[in-house]
Amino acid sequence: MRKILVAGNWKMNGSNAMAKELASAVANGFNSSSSVEMAVFPPFPYLNAVAEASAGTALQFGAQDVNENQAGAHTGETSAAMLVDLQCQMVLVGHSERRANYGDSDARVADKFAAALSAGLLPVLCIGESLEEREGGETEAVISRQLDAVLAKTGIDGFAKAVLAYEPVWAIGTGKTASPEQAQEIHAFIRDKLSALDGIIAGQLRILYGGSVKGSNAAELFAQTDIDGGLIGGASLTAEDFLAIYNAVA
Ligand code: 13P
Repeated sequence: MRKILVAGNWKMNGSNAMAKELASAVANGFNSSSSVEMAVFPPFPYLNAVAEASAGTALQFGAQDVNENQAGAHTGETSAAMLVDLQCQMVLVGHSERRANYGDSDARVADKFAAALSAGLLPVLCIGESLEEREGGETEAVISRQLDAVLAKTGIDGFAKAVLAYEPVWAIGTGKTASPEQAQEIHAFIRDKLSALDGIIAGQLRILYGGSVKGSNAAELFAQTDIDGGLIGGASLTAEDFLAIYNAVA
C-alpha cells in the first residue's frame, strides 16, 4: 500500500518565528503511526529552524528548489549536498512557478531531479498543464513531455526514489480545484505511462495532487485510486488549515 503524503509548500511566505511555530505545531499535531506522512517545504533561510522544530518527530521537510550543479560559481544557488547537510530529506523540482518565471526548462528540471537523486534526496517532481494547454486539448502531451525529459535523464529507475506531484497550473492559488474525477484521470494517465516502462516502480510511485487542496476537499481527492496525497500551498500556511487536511484523511 502506498502511504498518503500531505506536503506543504510554503512558497515565499513567513518569517523565522513563523517557521519555528508552524513547523512545531504541525510536527506535534499528527500521529506518526498512521498511514499518512507529512512534510513541509519552507523557504531556504528557514530550513534550519524547521530542522530544529521537527527534530525527533516524524515531520519531514525539504527545500522548494535545488541547483543542478554540485558546487562552484553559481552565486545565489543551493546545491543538493547543502540540503542534505541541513538534514532535508526531500526537495521540490520543477514547480510551475519556477518553470514559468525562473527558467526551469524541462531539461533543467531533469538535471535538478538527477542532482537530488545522486545526493540521496527524494525529489518531488512537479508537472502540470496551463489553462491554455488544457483548453487546447494538450494536457496529456504536456505531461508526457515533462515526464519524458526526466525519463531521458534517469530512466524509469529514477522514479523508484521519487514522488510526483500533478499540479494543474489553473488550479494553483485560484480556489479552482480539479474535480476528483478530473485529477484521477490524469493521475491514471501518468501511472499507466510509467507502468509501460516498469509496473513495479509505477505501482509504488506516489502521485500527489496539488491545486487549491483544503480540509474540505482533501478526503474526496485522496480517495481516488491513483491520488496518493497532496502538495498544498495556501492551506499549509497555518497549522489549523494544514492539520485539517491530515485529519480529513488520517
Ligand atoms: P495552492 O494550494 O495554494 O493552490 O498551491 C498549490 C501549489 O502550488 C503547491 O505547490
